[in-house]
Amino acid sequence: MIKKVPIRFDYNNMMADYVGDCQGFTDKDIAAAKAITKKAFEEVKAGRGQGMMGWTELPTNQKEVVSDIIATAKEVRKNFDSFVVLGIGGSALGPMALFQALCHLHHNELPKSKRKAPKFYVEDNVDPERMVALLDVIDPKKTMFNVITKSGSTSETMTQYLIISKILKDALGKDFSSHVIATTSESKGNLIKIAKQEGFKTFFIPDGVGGRFSELCPVGLLPATVLGIDIKAFLAGAKFMDDRCKKPDATKNPALMAALLQFLAMKSGKNISVMMPYADSLKLMADWYCQLWGESLGKAIDLDGNKVFVGQTPVKALGVTDQHSQVQLYTEGPFDKVVTLISVDNYRETVSIPDGCADIPAVNFLCGHTMNELIDAECNATEYALTRSGRLNNRIYLNDVNAFSMGQLMFFFMLQTAYTGAFLHIDTFNQPGVEEGKNATYALLGRAGYEEKAKELNSKKKKTDNYII
Ligand code: PA5
Repeated sequence: MIKKVPIRFDYNNMMADYVGDCQGFTDKDIAAAKAITKKAFEEVKAGRGQGMMGWTELPTNQKEVVSDIIATAKEVRKNFDSFVVLGIGGSALGPMALFQALCHLHHNELPKSKRKAPKFYVEDNVDPERMVALLDVIDPKKTMFNVITKSGSTSETMTQYLIISKILKDALGKDFSSHVIATTSESKGNLIKIAKQEGFKTFFIPDGVGGRFSELCPVGLLPATVLGIDIKAFLAGAKFMDDRCKKPDATKNPALMAALLQFLAMKSGKNISVMMPYADSLKLMADWYCQLWGESLGKAIDLDGNKVFVGQTPVKALGVTDQHSQVQLYTEGPFDKVVTLISVDNYRETVSIPDGCADIPAVNFLCGHTMNELIDAECNATEYALTRSGRLNNRIYLNDVNAFSMGQLMFFFMLQTAYTGAFLHIDTFNQPGVEEGKNATYALLGRAGYEEKAKELNSKKKKTDNYII
């Protein structure tokens, strides 16, 4: 039975009373932002389910899709040893984050009887060494490949598809199509055409759901179900958070308050957002957050066409590992960051620290405690050090890491991103910078229709050897 406990957003250390007058905010600042907060809230409310905000409806509008996913995943679990996602960006980071959060941390190394699900790989790059390394450890004949691309034309994903489909065709002949599931747009792109030709099982990414907001649709739900994750609880967690964030009063709406505080922080020059979970299971949640936050909020122009060049650079860190790497910078470097700590009240394991050094008090103090107490103390210590040095920080408390809390957490970040975009008065849901890179790749590799772009690239100033030493 999955525990359903609300996550808590603690913003004490964003406030002047705690972090000091120079950096922190006051209740007066929050009250003074009442009008812009109302506007941001209303904009997100009005946008729900419209345009590129189709993702707001995903917690509740997928009954049939969920049944299909559960039935499909059951067959995959029964018939395949490995499940490989081919995708990149929003088509990869969510599945990776949920896998890391909710499966055994060494899932693929466990014996099959303990794993109870296929081995899981997400190929989100086109490094040739990585492709060969994957092929060294899987048997394609016993592997299901889930090709995920909303646009159906992303070079990286289509390259992977071409390589894998050739291997499958060579090994299985016509039967190769039963080893590929396509998750893509129903109406646009090339993957849907290929899927129809080849007869692949398909799942659709709704038009109003962009890559980085797609974890709650089949992009995330199919891999999760194959792994044995309870997607109904995951969606219920998202809905639970959504209901909490339907209140216009920021003091009662965690995502709205979190967005307002980041917006105020940005206005005072805090252009870096550090995401630092104190749990290995949440390490890749920080990667997923980085894409969501960076790609959604990093924009050159606002909705009126003014040049604004806004955004906060997201940085991922891991507690406690990065206490021995980044935290020196966070506590003593420039006042340009907001650090978000994520802590877990109840880890799924408890490990005692045994006796063993009674004659060395400087080691012996650890004995009799648990690793759980140690990691918790270290999170508290980092929070203290940041606050003491006047560095803005906030903390998200998870009672447990489970499907319900992950649904809450991911939906919290999606809503916070949408509200922050509304505060910044930008298009949160486009990604012209990413498209520019995709188009340049097409041009460089000679795709038809990109001749003008190729000319533009070829006419750019050539590099000089003088600056290469
Ligand atoms: O958030 C986004 O839209 C992007 O990061 C995409 O997810 C990424 O570029 C991959 O695109 P696609 O799913 O179309 O292959």
